[in-house]
Amino acid sequence: MAAIRGLFYGAAIATRHLNDPAFVAALLQECGMIVSEWEAQWAALEPVRGKPDYTALDRLVEFAASNGLLFRGHSGIWYKRVPDWFGAINDRAEAERLMLEHVQAKFSRYRGRVQSWDVLNEAVDLRSGRPDGLRREVLLDKFGPGYIDLLFHAARAADPQALLCYNDYGVEYDTPWHTGRREAILALLRGCRSRGVPVDVFGIQAHLRIGARFNADIWARWLDEVAGLGIKLMITEIDVTDAAAPGDIAERDRQVAAEYERFLAPTLKSPAIIGMLAWGLSDRYSWIVRGTEPYHKRPDGLPPRPLPLDADLKRKPAWQAMADAFGGLPSR
Ligand code: XIL
Repeated sequence: MAAIRGLFYGAAIATRHLNDPAFVAALLQECGMIVSEWEAQWAALEPVRGKPDYTALDRLVEFAASNGLLFRGHSGIWYKRVPDWFGAINDRAEAERLMLEHVQAKFSRYRGRVQSWDVLNEAVDLRSGRPDGLRREVLLDKFGPGYIDLLFHAARAADPQALLCYNDYGVEYDTPWHTGRREAILALLRGCRSRGVPVDVFGIQAHLRIGARFNADIWARWLDEVAGLGIKLMITEIDVTDAAAPGDIAERDRQVAAEYERFLAPTLKSPAIIGMLAWGLSDRYSWIVRGTEPYHKRPDGLPPRPLPLDADLKRKPAWQAMADAFGGLPSR
């Protein structure tokens, strides 16, 4: 349905999921695109300095190419996934050279085979107390905010065809925290545009949850402001945490589907939106079901049901909500 509307639809997968034939069959049926859940992170590729290993990521990129799927790389640099040895480098010039060499090597290796790259992930955190809202993390500590420009320019040079994304979370809901993050991210994107930094897309992670306040008008206006900068929009990691929903499966699935629906209706209407990826396809493999973050866990201990397919790969109401959201759009 997404493809009929001129949008792409896909999901995050990890290389080990390719060993599950039933899952792969479902993936090929449902998706036109995949994104690497873990394999492209610097810490995954080069845990030991000077010994990068691209085997797992190669497998994902080749799987996409041989099955006619678009491939999206996640991520260029994410403060949480830089190798420990990089954090330990004190010489600023050496650290900068190694960071840019890594991006150059990773992006040029797959040049022409990547639809988009998250060049930079999650650089904003207002708890820093900085006027620009940038997060205090290893890269900012080493280089100051100028590293952002360097990264995007290096990415463009290494793969001129890939869409270059700034990807972040915590923007969609109507709370003071989300409002502050929207302002800081808009300012970051505006600054990049004004300096000629090649940011093509804002990636909306969209880790949704039941029970949060949402105002479709405020959200749509913010999307318009981003689009007004000449930046495209992509939903990059959508899923729904159901910890606040009742245990009953039918009721829970209904609430999860409703959460997808209320977010997708205004978001997919933006003329700047180019596609959507879920952070996993099936409840069989999801960071929420693994309980990666404490707030993912349900108080009753039942397994969460965040994604469009259940753990048996059957379509849930969430799948229907997505299909309906795409189906309600005009063709373009
Ligand atoms: C999660 C992954 O699913 C895990 O496999 C990983 O170990 C931790 O992070 N925002 C992101 C993703 O950009 O990389 C995160 O993925 C989810 C939050």
